[in-house]
Amino acid sequence: MRVLFTGIQPTGLLHIGNYFGAIKNWVELQYDYRSYISIVDLHALTIRHDPKQMPEQVFDLAVGLYACGIDQEKTTLFIQSEVPGHADLTWIFNTLAPLGELERMTQFKDKSARNRKNVNVGLLDYPVLQASDILIYKGEIVPVGEDQVQHVEFTREIARYFNSRYGKTFPECQARLTHTPRITGLDGASKMSKSLGNYIGLMEKEDEIWKKLSVAKTDPARVRRTDPGNPEICNIYSYHKVVTPETELSDYIASGCRSAAIGCLDCKRRLLNNLMKVLDPIREEYGSLCGKREYVRELLDRNAEHCRAVARQTMLEIKEKMGLTAVWKI
Ligand code: AMP
Ligand code: TRP
Repeated sequence: MRVLFTGIQPTGLLHIGNYFGAIKNWVELQYDYRSYISIVDLHALTIRHDPKQMPEQVFDLAVGLYACGIDQEKTTLFIQSEVPGHADLTWIFNTLAPLGELERMTQFKDKSARNRKNVNVGLLDYPVLQASDILIYKGEIVPVGEDQVQHVEFTREIARYFNSRYGKTFPECQARLTHTPRITGLDGASKMSKSLGNYIGLMEKEDEIWKKLSVAKTDPARVRRTDPGNPEICNIYSYHKVVTPETELSDYIASGCRSAAIGCLDCKRRLLNNLMKVLDPIREEYGSLCGKREYVRELLDRNAEHCRAVARQTMLEIKEKMGLTAVWKI
């Protein structure tokens, strides 16, 4: 089986952008690949974090992922910092990574512009750690949202540099996107993200979601109830596309919008209903797993142990190729 690798930061909240842009895909793909998912706490250190909250955020994310349908029999879910090989390999890759390219990464430019007071080296080195995550397991398929494609391409380049200098070692990985690789936020303008506050949380209460939805941007042409609209430019319609069954979508939502047979508020109410049909079973599972702390801890322990063994093997192979083995001892 080919290896799938992906990662997600424990930054405290899962939103429907994560779910429809990435996690749902991980659940579907886990049956076809040897699947690894890492909770990347080392990546999360590149922005200011609260050490007291971190353990709970990691636990919450693990539970959230299992509740979304990550199957502990199919996927090795583990905590990045519990596998030292990731940071080890980062140093090695640092010696191959072109500085200019790291400086040109979109995420580095965005994050350093937003956190002017904390432009740390980790922020710049972030893609190198990501490359190490993927390549230490010789990952080939990397299912992510659109914002991560540049980092996956960078990983492929690092693999190529390493292979040409030290001999074929790593596969050239590929990003795998969903049909909805970029879920727009409730503002209808930027990517849905926690830091922009334009999200719908996976575990948020229904009335909280309704509060946000009822004031969310729609097609600006629909000023009065009777004004017809164009669903293709309406952000609410883009959410309908991921949760609403095909016939309801075309026969009721899209045509109702075009003819003004339904108003924006009715349309949003339908959306809430359909969204809750997806979210309810996830919440139920989440609720039941939250009480099983020991069980979750045991799973993560076992998985980290497996990952350490795989990572050790790759590091041995690399060190040998790079002349880092003390052959004179033999
Ligand atoms: P993060 O929460 O930034 O660690 O992202 C976890 C995964 O969700 C990554 O694969 C991201 O590409 C994906 N993702 C995050 N936000 C969005 C979004 N608004 N639309 C689509 N995918 C997203
Ligand atoms: N940078 C990714 C994000 O913010 C998370 C991540 C870390 C990752 N390591 C990875 C994703 C390896 C895919 C593969 O979403």
